[in-house]
Amino acid sequence: MSFVITTPLYYVNDKPHLGSVYTTIICDAIARYKRLLGRHVIFITGVDEHGLKIQRTANEKGIEPKTHCDEISEIFNINWKKWDISFDKFIRTSSKNHELIVNEFYERVKASDDIYMGVQKGWYCVGCEEFKDNPENSSTYKCPIHQKNLEWKNEENLFFRLSKYQEQIEKLIHEPTFIEPIERRNEIIKFVSRGLKDFSISRTNVSWGIGVPGYDNHTFYVWFDALLGYVSAISSNTLEHSLEKSINEGWPVDIHLIGKDILRFHAVYWPAMLISAGMSAPKKVLGHGFLTREGQKMGKSLGNVLDPDLLLSKYGNDPVRWYLIKDISLGNDGDFQDKRFVDIINNDLANTIGNLLNRASSMSRKWFDNKVPNNEKISSENKLENFAKITIENYIHNFDIYKLDLAANEVLNLAINTNLYLNDNQPWLLIKENDNLPLVEEIIYNVLESTRIIGLLLLPLLPKLSSKINEQLGSIYRSEIPWEHQLKWGLLTTNSSLPKPSPIINKLEYE
Ligand code: MSP
Repeated sequence: MSFVITTPLYYVNDKPHLGSVYTTIICDAIARYKRLLGRHVIFITGVDEHGLKIQRTANEKGIEPKTHCDEISEIFNINWKKWDISFDKFIRTSSKNHELIVNEFYERVKASDDIYMGVQKGWYCVGCEEFKDNPENSSTYKCPIHQKNLEWKNEENLFFRLSKYQEQIEKLIHEPTFIEPIERRNEIIKFVSRGLKDFSISRTNVSWGIGVPGYDNHTFYVWFDALLGYVSAISSNTLEHSLEKSINEGWPVDIHLIGKDILRFHAVYWPAMLISAGMSAPKKVLGHGFLTREGQKMGKSLGNVLDPDLLLSKYGNDPVRWYLIKDISLGNDGDFQDKRFVDIINNDLANTIGNLLNRASSMSRKWFDNKVPNNEKISSENKLENFAKITIENYIHNFDIYKLDLAANEVLNLAINTNLYLNDNQPWLLIKENDNLPLVEEIIYNVLESTRIIGLLLLPLLPKLSSKINEQLGSIYRSEIPWEHQLKWGLLTTNSSLPKPSPIINKLEYE
């Protein structure tokens, strides 16, 4: 069975920002981890191209929406390749195939008697592409996310009978694994308990969208169309493109990883739409927090937006990944601080993990002729082996419950403890006595072996750094052997040659 994971489909009103990079990196780490466990993974990302927001952005630039979307979609696609994101599907909601899926899906929902014509009146945030629940002083109220005034709308729209699914949605959202973390689940439970209202799924004032069959002047509401992008993605790039094909090839999604602002769409509207169409709801919706910069919301007006392109070219992929994965607990808000970033990278990656590799390989090269030493059992208890085994168990447990920060900390802790083991045993003193040679061999073997395991555990988190570590130990990850088997203690071959070492990470300077 496939494991399907998705990022949100990003609006193409602008190029990727750090928030989109964050979500995509987390998804990438999870996708890589599941592949290591032998799962067939379908990792979906893509862009959400329709709607009023995009139509206006293109108008402001004086170009056709399609031209604008082509340009920004390409930037997203190239960007994810630059970040070494291992996505399997990149879906564009302006594609012809997607339109076919939307139409097919709409027919199913209509056949369930869940569509009717009504009048939609209310205050709308174009940034969110969402009606807001009767805010007080609506004409002066600004959307807290976009800091823009709401717009009054009053038009005939097609509606989806969301209210009909009250009971089913209540049951679903109470399942403890459906919405995580718990704070997010509670928000949604509260929202649903107030009673679900039908919502409009078409627009008469937006031409940049998919036309509703049978209604000349209506296009589908951008969210109705966009959520279906996940379904289209599964059968995209295959010869037959249909709803049935997507259902057979992987539906439902295992995890939608999204920001907390778009939880209602994914955890309430979307499952109801799917049930109406006779399809299964996603298995899990994981809502992450928001990133701020030096404690402040990032925004163009504040002039504090962090350009991910600059970050990537200045520091490289692994440092940014490490900071975002290890320093932010998934679900909580996170803050990007320049000084903290430099300190964490220098402490964790350069001084702890990099230095460990450097120490271990230079001692082996000096004392054992550039080779992995013998591994004869001298000590009665191998503390490092025991520590590594516990680390692996905890790491897997934490990854399985998507606590990636804790998984990363487990690896770091193993590196810290391996350095301590070296310090405590002081092989540089022991080596002075000839009789101690077997003991020194054992110590250095243990340190090298522990470093090999650190390298393997870093594979989904920091793919590049991980390969560099294992290359320098002459023991690379082999995809034909299950990853978990390769984590077994003692697999580093004694007497094998150690390649010439080179620094795996450069220390960063704080400017
Ligand atoms: N197009 C919709 C999603 C449709 S999914 C079928 C959309 N796009 S978005 O580009 O505006 O937002 C994409 C994601 O970025 C959302 O999950 C949102 O929470 C996230 N973020 C936006 N700003 C963010 C931060 N400052 N920090 C972290 N994530 C943030 O919504």
